[in-house]
Amino acid sequence: MEHIVIAGKRGLRGEVNINGAKNAAVAIIPAAVASASVCVIDNLPHIEDIVSLVDAMTKLGCKCRFINRNTLEIDSTGVTSVTADFDSIKKLRASYYLVGALLGRFGEAQVLLPGGCNFGTRPIDQHMKGFEALGAAVAIDHGMIKAKAAKLTGAHIYLDVASVGATINIMIASVYAEGTTVIENAAKEPHVVDCANFLNILGARVKGAGTDTIRIKGVTELHGGEYTIIPDQIECGTFMLTAAATAGEITVRNIIPKHMDSVSAKLSEMGCKLTEGSDFITVRGSDSLRAVNVKTMAYPGFPTDLQPQMTTLLCSANGTSIITETVFDNRYQYITELRRLGCQVTVDGRIAVIEGHNRLTGASVTATDLRAGAALVIGGLCAEGVTDIGNVKYIDRGYERIELNMQRLGADIKRVSE
Ligand code: EPZ
Repeated sequence: MEHIVIAGKRGLRGEVNINGAKNAAVAIIPAAVASASVCVIDNLPHIEDIVSLVDAMTKLGCKCRFINRNTLEIDSTGVTSVTADFDSIKKLRASYYLVGALLGRFGEAQVLLPGGCNFGTRPIDQHMKGFEALGAAVAIDHGMIKAKAAKLTGAHIYLDVASVGATINIMIASVYAEGTTVIENAAKEPHVVDCANFLNILGARVKGAGTDTIRIKGVTELHGGEYTIIPDQIECGTFMLTAAATAGEITVRNIIPKHMDSVSAKLSEMGCKLTEGSDFITVRGSDSLRAVNVKTMAYPGFPTDLQPQMTTLLCSANGTSIITETVFDNRYQYITELRRLGCQVTVDGRIAVIEGHNRLTGASVTATDLRAGAALVIGGLCAEGVTDIGNVKYIDRGYERIELNMQRLGADIKRVSE
C-alpha cells in the first residue's frame, strides 16, 4: 500500500501544466469501440482509470497500444465479443460506456455493473431508459447490464436528471440508430461536448452537445480518426484551490479558462486575485480570505467534483461558509477525515457548515474517494506538521502523479510504500 506524506507548508508557487480530462478520456476511449476502425487519442492523462479501461477493451478484442505515455492507439476492428465481465470493469464507473458502444455497434451488450466512487446511490435508470427508447430490451441480471436490440431506432428521450453518464452513453448508443435521436435535459459538461466532437470526427452526426438538447442523426458506419482530449477542468480547479488554500501563487497552464468560470468567480468572491489568459489562469491566494457559500450544480455551475477541495479551502477562510451539494446524496463521507486535521464542519444531509479560521494540524488520514483524496492533500499542505494519507490508489485514479506536480510548486510531499 502506498501513502502520501506531507509536511505542511504554505505559500506554494509556480506553474502546473494541466493534463487531459479524465472524464472526457474515460468516455472517448470506450466510444472508440463503436467504430470498427483505428483511432488515436492524444493528451490522455496517465491514470489508473485509463489503465483499467484499456485492460477491459483489450479483453474484448481491441488492440490497444500506448504510442507514448499520453497517446493511445485503439484498433477495434477485431472486437467480436459483446460480453465484458472482467474485474477491471468494476474498478471505475465509466466502464458502463462500453454498453452504449457495444449496443450501438453490435445490437447487444453484456457488461458488469460499474464501480466508481461511493457517495450515495448512483443508479443507471436513465441510461437504461435511453437504451429502451432506442428499441433495446435492457435488464440487470446477475450483476450484469444486459441490453439487446434487433434494430436501434432514433427516439425522443427526456432525461429525468441531466446525467453526464446517461447523456454520453445514449449519445454513443444512438450513432447508428435509424433516424434521429433527441436527448432533452442533456448534461452540458465539457466532457459531453468532447465526446460528441470525437464521435463527429469518426463520422457521426451529433449536434447540440453543450446545450440541453442534443440531436443525433443515425449513420451506417464510422471511420477512424485522431483526437486530442480537452484539459481537465477538475484537476485545474484542484490546483487553483490549492493556491488559495496555501496563500500561494499558482499558474495553471494548457487549460480552457471558460471551463473554470464558476471556480474563478468563487475564488474572486473570496478575495483571491486572478489573472486570466487564453490558455492559463494565475491564482494568488492570501491569508485572509472571505467565507462564501457554494452550491454545487451541473455545468456551468460549481462542479460537485471540486466540492471536497472547496470545503478544505473554506476551513481557512474568515467566517462561516455553507456548502450545498445538489448533485449527489451522500458526498460528505470525507468530512470525518478532514476533522482529523482540525476542520470544524457540521453536516446535515446535503448541507455542510464550515467554521473558518481553522488552524489545521497534521494527522494520519485515509482517502475515501478520488476527490476526497485531493482534498486531504490540500488539507495536509495547509496543516502544521506531518499528514499521512492512506488509500492513495483513489487519488491515482484521477490525478497523474499529483505529488510530483505539488513538489514542483514547493510542497514537501512524497509518496512512500508501506
Ligand atoms: C460523472 O459521473 C463523473 N464521472 C463524476 O465525476 C461527476 O461527479 C458526475 O458526472 C457529475 O458531474 C465520470 O464522468 C466518469 P451523473 P456520473 O450521471 O455520470 C443521478 C470524478 O470524481 N443519476 O451526472 O455517474 C446520480 O445519482 C467523478 O471524476 C440518476 O438518478 O454522474 C446523481 O445524483 C466522481 N440516474 C446525478 O444523477 C442515472 O441513470 C448526477 O449523476 C444516472 C445518474
